[in-house]
Amino acid sequence: MSVKIDERLKHIAFIMDGNGRWAQKRGMPRYYGHKYGAKKFREILEYCLDIGVLVTTVYAFSTENWTRPKKEVDAIMKILDSYLDECYDKKDGYDVHYRFVGDMSLFDGYEGGESIIRRMNELDSLTFSKTRTINIAVNYGGRDEIVNAVNRLISEGYSKVTKDDLASHMYTAPYPDPDLIIRTGGDLRVSNFLLWQCAYSEFYFTSTLWPDLTTEEVDKAIEEFYSRKRRYGGV
Ligand code: FPP
Repeated sequence: MSVKIDERLKHIAFIMDGNGRWAQKRGMPRYYGHKYGAKKFREILEYCLDIGVLVTTVYAFSTENWTRPKKEVDAIMKILDSYLDECYDKKDGYDVHYRFVGDMSLFDGYEGGESIIRRMNELDSLTFSKTRTINIAVNYGGRDEIVNAVNRLISEGYSKVTKDDLASHMYTAPYPDPDLIIRTGGDLRVSNFLLWQCAYSEFYFTSTLWPDLTTEEVDKAIEEFYSRKRRYGGV
């Protein structure tokens, strides 16, 4: 561990892009890349916990990812399913609150989806009192999240809302917005991720494919984060 974290960096989010290309470069099917991507996710989460990051968020499955070939969707769901089992085994004595953020209702139509939703909800409540948090964004879309927040506010009787009202109805509430968002895979875009929360996030883009990301490069991103002056619209 080489970087030092302080209160300026409470939350790091990752767009884990490049799994498919990583596998294809090796002549392997895309799902093989997701398998290695999930392995990398575990390593990076451990690293974030080691260096003292309070909240880590990862983009594991977007609302648009359902349009991928069924074989690939099934492979990602299988990875998620076995990760949930692993979380149950690990949860005692492990200081992590597991949260699954996204529109869980869309899992309903997926075979095995009901069990996935049930275990996600259960893991969330069983680990609620831990001090560190991992938000795993599944079936997540930033615009959907905003629409969902507005609809919840309407159903609660609001006719006029403030920024704080909206913020408190986002899936990631009550946790702070991401200070740093790291995107692997070479694309320079947000891809519908944490649209509300990223208003003042610092971005680190790298062409490194997600399964190749190293903790040294995470350090580099963090060092770059500390070298930037966050002005929040001021001077
Ligand atoms: C983007 O790479 C990655 C995904 C759509 C899936 C990411 C999922 C995992 C890493 C597994 C997550 C598992 C857990 C347990 C959190 P891509 O397929 O779009 O890559 P490409 O841009 O090279 O095609």
